[in-house]
Amino acid sequence: MTRTTLLRTAAGLALAAGLAIGGYYHFGYGTAVAGEVTVWKSPSCGCCGKWVDHMRAHGFRVVVHETDDLTPIKRREGVPDRLQACHTATADGYTIEGHVPAADVKRLLAEKPRARGIAVAGMPIGSPGMEQGSAREPYDVVLFDDQKRQSVFRRY
Ligand code: CU
Ligand code: CU
Repeated sequence: MTRTTLLRTAAGLALAAGLAIGGYYHFGYGTAVAGEVTVWKSPSCGCCGKWVDHMRAHGFRVVVHETDDLTPIKRREGVPDRLQACHTATADGYTIEGHVPAADVKRLLAEKPRARGIAVAGMPIGSPGMEQGSAREPYDVVLFDDQKRQSVFRRY
């Protein structure tokens, strides 16, 4: 091994170690989690708790904050009025409003579109956390930004 190769190898190893450490901290304690989600919900909201369970079942690490006044949270996280639902969450800088399926949160975090977040407005029957037997209401997962632009991210 020449001196140059040796230096390159050492630099490569340092980089790899740095990436490994970065990955370790990014994903929290080395467990295979899909990402971290922070949720704000009312302590009395049952469907919100079920959505948290849904996210955990799909590999997300979820931190829950309970509050009775979600209005300032929704304002801070840029949730458009017409897209409001029961709970508000954030993941990797994005806002997640309402009963958004875990699969769509994973897609959002993988594709990283230029947007503020995604939302499922209201509380459609059949969305994660809103199950009522086999009943299903059609609903859209809406992608929104801070310039009042909204588009359908996925239709159910
Ligand atoms: Cu709800
Ligand atoms: Cu909720």
